[in-house]
Amino acid sequence: MELPTLETIVSLAKRRGFIFPGSEIYGGLAGTWDFGPLGVALKNNIKESWRKKFVLGRDDMYEIDAAILMNSKVWEASGHVAGFSDPMVECKKCKSRFREDQLDSNECPTCGTKEAFAEARQFNMMFKTQAGAVEDSSATVYLRPETAQGMFVNFKNIIDTFHPKLPFGMAQIGKAFRNEITPRDFVFRSREFEQMEIEYFIQETHWEKYFTYWKDEMVEWMQTIGLAMDRVHEITKGADELAHYSKSSTDFEFDFPFGQKELFGISYRTDFDLKQHMQHSTVSLEYSEEGEQKFVPHVIEPTFGVERAVLAVLVSAYCEEELDNGEKRVYLKLPPKIAPVKICVSPLLKNKPELVEKAKLIHGSLKEVFGAVAWDDNGNIGKRYRRQDEIGTPFCVTIDFDTLTDESVTVRNRDTGSQERIALAELHTWFTEKLQ
Ligand code: GAP
Repeated sequence: MELPTLETIVSLAKRRGFIFPGSEIYGGLAGTWDFGPLGVALKNNIKESWRKKFVLGRDDMYEIDAAILMNSKVWEASGHVAGFSDPMVECKKCKSRFREDQLDSNECPTCGTKEAFAEARQFNMMFKTQAGAVEDSSATVYLRPETAQGMFVNFKNIIDTFHPKLPFGMAQIGKAFRNEITPRDFVFRSREFEQMEIEYFIQETHWEKYFTYWKDEMVEWMQTIGLAMDRVHEITKGADELAHYSKSSTDFEFDFPFGQKELFGISYRTDFDLKQHMQHSTVSLEYSEEGEQKFVPHVIEPTFGVERAVLAVLVSAYCEEELDNGEKRVYLKLPPKIAPVKICVSPLLKNKPELVEKAKLIHGSLKEVFGAVAWDDNGNIGKRYRRQDEIGTPFCVTIDFDTLTDESVTVRNRDTGSQERIALAELHTWFTEKLQ
């Protein structure tokens, strides 16, 4: 299957209630997106799948939910106040601003050429705001640009309350904010987004072993959420491309419709962050095992952007096929665990009360067990299938006149379009197996 265009994905996402432009009725706000009911469900399923593998599925992971607003000393210590910036250039004529490292000829403002740009200057990407009623510099706070620091500043709390032995990890899912100079490519580069991050604390000598181990774990999870793995590329970053805290980083890049771009990443952050916080806070963040010498652990950080995961999942799942009658069928081949709706139930005809009543009973009992079960009695069966295909519902159940006598229903498969008759007595077991 060829890559869908970005317009195709954006239009489906809007038309079907996955993702809308932020503040749309006021003309929008650049770099912000609002998730509709199906987008929320998809996002939650991706986050739950991540938690299941990396938190609930392990004995060595401590999940936290730290505040978005943190003492601004955190960002001084982490290096973000001094160095979390991109080189920005401004057109002397029209004053449009661009990221210098992403400038290509296409991006020159229509009013000029590259020569029209003023000298590049560093632009700090943290959003600044004020806490409390007094507007002085002591009240300056930043919206966190990464969730990672919430974990480093809670390292001691986890050690003191749970006494974990190395290696162990901390995990967090939450919002991050970056005042991107040029937000673009749908949700790919937003100003408000969500991250899923792990800080895995280790002994320095083990860093290569755990770096490889975590790369493999990341790949395994990408397969679980249905990413087209032939479109995922592992890129080792060069020494000149590393973030200020990193000694080694690998990006997982994905073939998005707008090019091969960073999807997720993994970094060896050494003991940089804990040491910085130890120095700035004067609180010891050392670790020791019974009687042994104290030391500051090193850390491997696998990091994932939720919106980029959503976009890569949609691009991977998008399928088109031509039907015998020449019409085009669009469906999202989402893994059942990730699909926002698992099953859709319909009566064959909505003006036959005996069918509707039976269908409602079946809908209710499936919903109790499988949760995300939709009801659709609009239009004809063909149209209902098309609608469910477009949102990636793996199965549609139709209640017809035979159901009233033979206690069975027709179940239609999203990917093959095939239909089979399943006895009501077996329906729950059948779906439990298929939705695994
Ligand atoms: N704690 C490390 C860190 O924040 P990063 O590479 O700057 O590293 C991690 O960001 C991930 O967050 C990226 O791999 C990407 O998935 C996501 N991300 C970063 N900036 C983003 C943006 N402006 N919009 C959407 N997702 C973004």
